[in-house]
Amino acid sequence: MKGKTLFISGGTRGIGKAMVYAFAKKGCNIAFTYASSEDTANEIIADVGAKHDVKCRAYKLDILEPLTYKDVYKKFDEDFDKLDFFISNAIISGRAVVGGFGPFMRLKPRGLNNIYTATVDAFVVGAQEATKRMELTGGGSIISMSSTGNLVYTPNYAGHGTNKAAVEAMVRYAAAELGEKGIRVNTVSGGPIDTDALKAFPNYEGVKNEVIRRSPLSRMGEPTDLTGACLFLCSDESSWLTGQTIVIDGGTTFQ
Ligand SMILES: NC(=O)c1ccc[n+]([C@@H]2O[C@H](COP(=O)([O-])OP(=O)(O)OC[C@H]3O[C@@H](n4cnc5c(N)ncnc54)[C@H](OP(=O)(O)O)[C@@H]3O)[C@@H](O)[C@H]2O)c1
Repeated sequence: MKGKTLFISGGTRGIGKAMVYAFAKKGCNIAFTYASSEDTANEIIADVGAKHDVKCRAYKLDILEPLTYKDVYKKFDEDFDKLDFFISNAIISGRAVVGGFGPFMRLKPRGLNNIYTATVDAFVVGAQEATKRMELTGGGSIISMSSTGNLVYTPNYAGHGTNKAAVEAMVRYAAAELGEKGIRVNTVSGGPIDTDALKAFPNYEGVKNEVIRRSPLSRMGEPTDLTGACLFLCSDESSWLTGQTIVIDGGTTFQ
């Protein structure tokens, strides 16, 4: 990982933040994005800089305006001379998902479309911009975060679940076409992980108890549970692995 560079969206909280630290610990330079948590982003930059001998920068990005990825990457180019890994991780919550997060009979096109924009469109534009840079150096690894809510019924999760299914399909299409550039594209799909996104569920405690009950490992997922798979997908150990989804769910999807 030394001398490599990761660009990850949504590095200020939950799973994205865990990725920032996991990759920095391995010596990888980090570019991450935030939406509103600028102070947190600056704290992370200072903390990573104090703990690890890597370059770490943050940029403001709104995944509801995916084309603005192009401007963010221009800023990235001023700070970094190459890109090796891209993880599409950021996700919207709160008002932006009204009509997209809830029971089936309350779903509305606007909320659903917002989730599509933030999940699929943002992956597409972010990965296109990443590809333009990775192909200059002979390749790289692209990952989309997904969730097992596209495999098993999860109350209120229809909007996210269907769009995670869509982004997993988009990943396979990207993998088929970017392989010739030396770029591998995969998905890491997590079961319920204890983050702010999950705490936003109205039935958070119920979901948590159900996950613990279902998992043969009898515990909830933590953000760090997903970092190993992403490190693996960004290493040469996975050099013939592309177009796949790695499911990390504590065994909850099967039961
Ligand atoms: N939590 C789970 O149970 C779970 C399970 C499997 C997969 N996942 C997936 O893993 C990824 C991360 O989830 P998480 O639970 O870590 O989420 P989270 O804790 O809610 O963090 C969301 C991140 O996205 C950023 N963000 C929010 N709105 C944005 C916007 N409009 N534009 C750009 N960035 C925005 C946030 O930045 P600010 O701090 O600046 O707002 C934050 O860094 C998502 O793709 C999610 O679907 C989650």
